[in-house]
Amino acid sequence: MGDNFDGTFDLIITGGTVIDGTRDARFDADVGIVGERIVALGDLSLRNARRRIDASGKIVAPGFIDSHTHDDAALLSQPRMEYKVSQGVTTVVTGNCGISLAPSQPGMPVPMPLSLLRPELGDTATFPRFADYLDALRGAPASVNVAALVGHTTLRAQTMANLDCDASPQERSAMADLLERALEDGAFGLSTGTFYPPAAKASTQEIIEVGQALTRFGALYATHMRNEAEGTLASLEETFAIGRALDIAVVISHHKLQREENFGKSAMTLPLIRAAMKCQCVSLDCYPYIASSTMLHTDPAKLQCRVLIASSESYPEMAGRDLSEVAQQWHLSLSETAQRLQPAAAIYFSMDERDVRNILSFDDTMIGSDGIPSSDKPHPRLWGTFPRVLGHYSRDIGLFSLETAVWKMSGLTARNFGLKDRGTVAIGGFADLVIFDAASVIDKASYESPIQAAQGIDAVLVNGRMTWEMGQHTGARNGQVITPARSTPS
Ligand code: ZN
Ligand code: CU
Repeated sequence: MGDNFDGTFDLIITGGTVIDGTRDARFDADVGIVGERIVALGDLSLRNARRRIDASGKIVAPGFIDSHTHDDAALLSQPRMEYKVSQGVTTVVTGNCGISLAPSQPGMPVPMPLSLLRPELGDTATFPRFADYLDALRGAPASVNVAALVGHTTLRAQTMANLDCDASPQERSAMADLLERALEDGAFGLSTGTFYPPAAKASTQEIIEVGQALTRFGALYATHMRNEAEGTLASLEETFAIGRALDIAVVISHHKLQREENFGKSAMTLPLIRAAMKCQCVSLDCYPYIASSTMLHTDPAKLQCRVLIASSESYPEMAGRDLSEVAQQWHLSLSETAQRLQPAAAIYFSMDERDVRNILSFDDTMIGSDGIPSSDKPHPRLWGTFPRVLGHYSRDIGLFSLETAVWKMSGLTARNFGLKDRGTVAIGGFADLVIFDAASVIDKASYESPIQAAQGIDAVLVNGRMTWEMGQHTGARNGQVITPARSTPS
């Protein structure tokens, strides 16, 4: 508290209760902002300001950090990022699940799920160097900050002649070079998606060899694991082994247990994660829903639960319908129907609520939306994740305190990703802030009607600029490209 600033503030947020993102108890304080930074906290009632906004009765918290997104292209094609800003999100981590928009070469193949990133930009937008992508974002800023990962599948697609096998030594070293240059350019790390066909044949050893540079840069490894159903325990072991081999931090993306026969196994996975944390750096994230969403699979084993079509390029009118219904109408099997709808995305009701709650309430779990912004009927997590954790899981269900909820969406995430001066309400930190009403905040997006702004998010500031106010986007596009604060590699 206190400060040594004696000039005129650009903005003072008055009368609010601060939940500062460290998980400490809330406190009443005004927040004084100059330019893009917070410069004072405390009683600022006698101080001069160009503007004051009243946050009486409201919570003032760090802007939320979405630890897991597929916003790579959307940041350029829909830079207002309304579906994120309206939730209080001020920073997104892109390039997850092995798929990133950069680096990318003209004419490279774009298989599913890589093509999930592409609809709005088309296949022609390429970024040969990772820096080209970051420069594009700097040249046309979005409304939120970005920390970007490099996708292993993206690297495979531009270096391998045949994706249906383990990479050759030459292909591995070509990918390792691309990764190293991307890390030099400012990537935060590498993601993999060995669950998906274009990377499923990659061996553990391929990932370790491609990831060599992560060690030197102190960069991290995020993974959509090979298997999130019957093979989850083995996949966790693989993830830990990669982290140990490279001596780097690993992030288990959207931890979940799919398919009925695996329901309840969070009682095994979470202790395993806890034990690994004692010997190495491990973190994880989760979205607050029992349905997942990704490309529409054609493998019958992956179509056993209720499947909702999120988008289809060949039959756009089928978005929002059940796969089984369409299969009946077409007199085809589920798998044949899925093939005919390609390229397509879907929603899978494949998890158990008890596992979701266990994982969400596990101390070290961050909140990440995993939203896919290109679907016609997106999973509601795209617009609802953060307010749903605040309103539904924290306030209504009582899964954890509001202080813990905020921490899981800000301070914890900033720490795990090394986002300097972000994720807490602190003097000297960036003024990424959200003002919300704890009593009424709630997600409005549903499976039937997924494109809906949340309720109770009163104002959102990104680097000191008002970006969301009174239920509306202000038009501000003040997001920054965040690059790792690390010393030069040894
Ligand atoms: Zn994923
Ligand atoms: Cu993902």
